[in-house]
Amino acid sequence: MGEYVLLRHRDIPNIDNIEVYRQNGGFEALQKVVTSMQPDEVTDVVKASGLRGRGGAGFPTGLKWSFIDRKKWPHYVVVNADESEPGTFKDREIMERNPYQFLEGVAICAYAVGAHAAYIYLRGEFWPVAATLDKHIAAMEAGGFLGDNLFGSNYHLRMFTHLGAGAYICGEETALLESMEGKLGQPRLRPPFPPSFGLYGKPTIVNNVETLTNVPLIMARGAEWYKSIGTEKSPGPKIFSLSGRVNRPGNYELPLGTTFRELIYTHGGGVPGDRSVKAIMAAGASSSLIIGSEAALDTPMDYESVPSLGAQLGSASVIVIDDTISIPWLINKTIHFFKHESCGKCTPCREGNFWMLNLTERIAHGHADWSDVELLYAVASQMRGKCLCALGEFAIEAVVSGIERFRPDFEAAVGKAASQG
Ligand SMILES: Cc1cc2nc3c(=O)[nH]c(=O)nc-3n(C[C@H](O)[C@H](O)[C@H](O)COP(=O)(O)O)c2cc1C
Repeated sequence: MGEYVLLRHRDIPNIDNIEVYRQNGGFEALQKVVTSMQPDEVTDVVKASGLRGRGGAGFPTGLKWSFIDRKKWPHYVVVNADESEPGTFKDREIMERNPYQFLEGVAICAYAVGAHAAYIYLRGEFWPVAATLDKHIAAMEAGGFLGDNLFGSNYHLRMFTHLGAGAYICGEETALLESMEGKLGQPRLRPPFPPSFGLYGKPTIVNNVETLTNVPLIMARGAEWYKSIGTEKSPGPKIFSLSGRVNRPGNYELPLGTTFRELIYTHGGGVPGDRSVKAIMAAGASSSLIIGSEAALDTPMDYESVPSLGAQLGSASVIVIDDTISIPWLINKTIHFFKHESCGKCTPCREGNFWMLNLTERIAHGHADWSDVELLYAVASQMRGKCLCALGEFAIEAVVSGIERFRPDFEAAVGKAASQG
């Protein structure tokens, strides 16, 4: 790929300095938007660009902005910087290294949806990131890029950081809003959705860090330029967080539609010891297990193609699993996480994860028989579609796909128990 769009600090040193950012066209898009465009026009450009949310669901961003309820005021923008999916570490790099492009994107979003306050909700462990962002926000205020009468207009905007307390569920947007309000971080029943009933019950747009970091360049260079990157239905660049059994783990900014093979072999340097790829998790711990076939490796990573493998792209946190890994061991790890992070509000997720942990513990450690595998499959299948939020759905993905697609691993784990008598 040529020029970086999101990880621009890799092309432009010190872009986290406001002067360097300005010298490289920083805040020109914000100025153009605030001084010469109507809010709806901004939303229309983002719609036309085809930008889709990078937090996981891939929801069209401009369409979400257009849902903001204009009959109720005030409006808020809340940035999801919780970055809590195991295997996802892209938003942190953006906020640490290319912070002004991100903050400019937040400001443009706020203008488009008529918000005068924007909040950045960061996971508790990101407190040093929040402290640095506070300084960047102060520098923007001092430079006239935030505050009253921006660029001589009558538009005003303030930004604030807000720290969570280290709970995965607070990445779910309605639990995040509850947490911001000082309540227990648990998801809300929907509808109503945040664009009509969000923070403090007011219309709110919740977007991911990476999503909003696309916006300044979309406004500066236009929707057609943006659509020239990626695929027709999944346009633009994406940061793939690559981890697991690869020689060069890290963040890779590539066009959507790049194949798994190119990411893992060309950029990630392949699998240590040239072992074969047994499985791929494309969306962190929340993934279905994709069988590491040649066809899968040649599949483009975009929102349309990954589902053809019985999985989702999600936040594009690609975890590579080689043939040294036992799948029962792996799902025991993921279920440990989900059992710990289930908020307990809805019964299927709370009880289901508890039982899945007991069963995967037994299976992974050679103390189970085949009826335990069947019971695990039944528990997981019965959770599907019955949880209050997607956490419960995420938890079962690796379990169900693991049993269906890697049956010999479970037979081996159970066989171990039989041979131990
Ligand atoms: C359990 C759970 C955890 C989530 N964690 C995150 C997260 O850490 N960061 C994020 O941006 N979105 C996360 N999401 C997705 C958000 O609910 C929401 O869809 C997203 O912030 C919308 O932004 P986008 O449209 O820009 O992607 C999570 C969802 C669930 C169900």
